[in-house]
Parts: sequence; C-alpha cells; structure tokens
Amino acid sequence: MKLFVDTGSVKEIEPLTALGLLDGATTNPSLMAKEGGDPRAIIRQICGLVQGPVSAEVVATDADGMIREGRDLAGIDPHVVVKVPFTRAGVAACRTLASEGIRVNVTLIFSAPQAWLAAKVGAAYVSPFVGRLDDIGMTGMHLIQEIVDLFSHAGYATEVLVASVRNPVHVVEAGRMGAHVVTCPPAIIDQLFKHPLTDIGLEKFLKDWQKAQGAKA
Ligand code: E4P
Repeated sequence: MKLFVDTGSVKEIEPLTALGLLDGATTNPSLMAKEGGDPRAIIRQICGLVQGPVSAEVVATDADGMIREGRDLAGIDPHVVVKVPFTRAGVAACRTLASEGIRVNVTLIFSAPQAWLAAKVGAAYVSPFVGRLDDIGMTGMHLIQEIVDLFSHAGYATEVLVASVRNPVHVVEAGRMGAHVVTCPPAIIDQLFKHPLTDIGLEKFLKDWQKAQGAKA
C-alpha cells in the first residue's frame, strides 16, 4: 500500500521525504487556504519534493470550469493529479480530462455507487472519506471494503485512495482490505512511529549498556 501525505505544507512534507517514506501527496482547498501564498508555487514545490503523484483540487463547480482549471493544474508539473469533487459536473470533467491523458482523483466519495461511476469515467483514483463517515456514526472502513471488492471483481484500474484518515487503525485496516493508497495528515504519520514499549525497551537497553560500561571502568 502506498503512503501519501495529506497536507499543503511544504514544511511538513520536507522531513517525511528525507525519510524516504512518501509515495505522493494530497491537498484540498481547505488545506491550501491554510498555507496562504501562491497555490501554484506551493504545488510545484510539493511535486519537486515528493516526486510522485500530487493531487491538486479544482474549485470551479461547473464541468467547463473544472476542465479549464484541471488542464491548468496539470500544466504545473507532470506529477500533478487533478482532483475533482464527485458531482455530475465532476464526473463529466473527469471523463474529458482522463481522455486527454490527465490523471484525475475523484474526491468526496461517500458511497460505493459513486466510486463505481468515477471508475467508469476513467478516474485514476477515488478518494472515499472514512473519518467523515465515522463522524456521523457510520463505519467508514466498511465503504473501503465495498469499493475494493467492487473494483477487483470489475477489474478497474482505478486506485482506492483512503482519505480523511484519523488514526493508525484506519491505516492498518486499509492495508488489510487491499486499498492501494492511504493518505495521512502528518500527525497521523507521526503516530504510526510510536509505541510506548519501543521507548521503554530502548531506555532499558541503553541503561543496561551504560551500567555494564561503568562496571568495567
Ligand atoms: C483527501 O484527499 C482530503 O484532503 C482529506 O483526507 C480530508 O480529510 P478531513 O476529513 O480530515 O478533512
């Protein structure tokens, strides 16, 4: 399973690329709005750092506007994947952009039929939002299982990109279900590193080592 980072912050991405952990990045208008500055320049910088697929989202709501914006975003860097919301206009835009060889990530997916329609028009990725489903008392990961099953039976090339990830359990379940990609905010990637027994174990190893060195001296 590939790991993408879900942020518009170059500062947050830099240390992760240095570790060699990232396969790509996702942004959205809310994340980009937090950064200020020139969004195109930020996307270009993220592409340079990640050297993998970087989703940049359109803000137009009509198909023609999405197509225009999508072409423009795709022109920023060859790593850009154009993100469109799942609406009728988004589906139409996806179809056109995909037919031009532009990779499209259809976002705000909350049901398996939506994912299926996006795959039918050539989406490279679909982004089901698991955390937001959990927030309304549903089980977001059930949707991932449904979409993974549906795509594997139908043989679609569309990748399931698990989004709105809120905890490490989402990440592990995504992998076990056969999702292709998980996109995590940097804080969740941080959590993936942590285990108290690792900290306790390391502390004990070092203490024992130092005690032995002291005894030898
Ligand atoms: C996905 O690409 C979105 O940017 C993101 O995962 C949304 O997550 P949220 O529900 O935490 O805003």
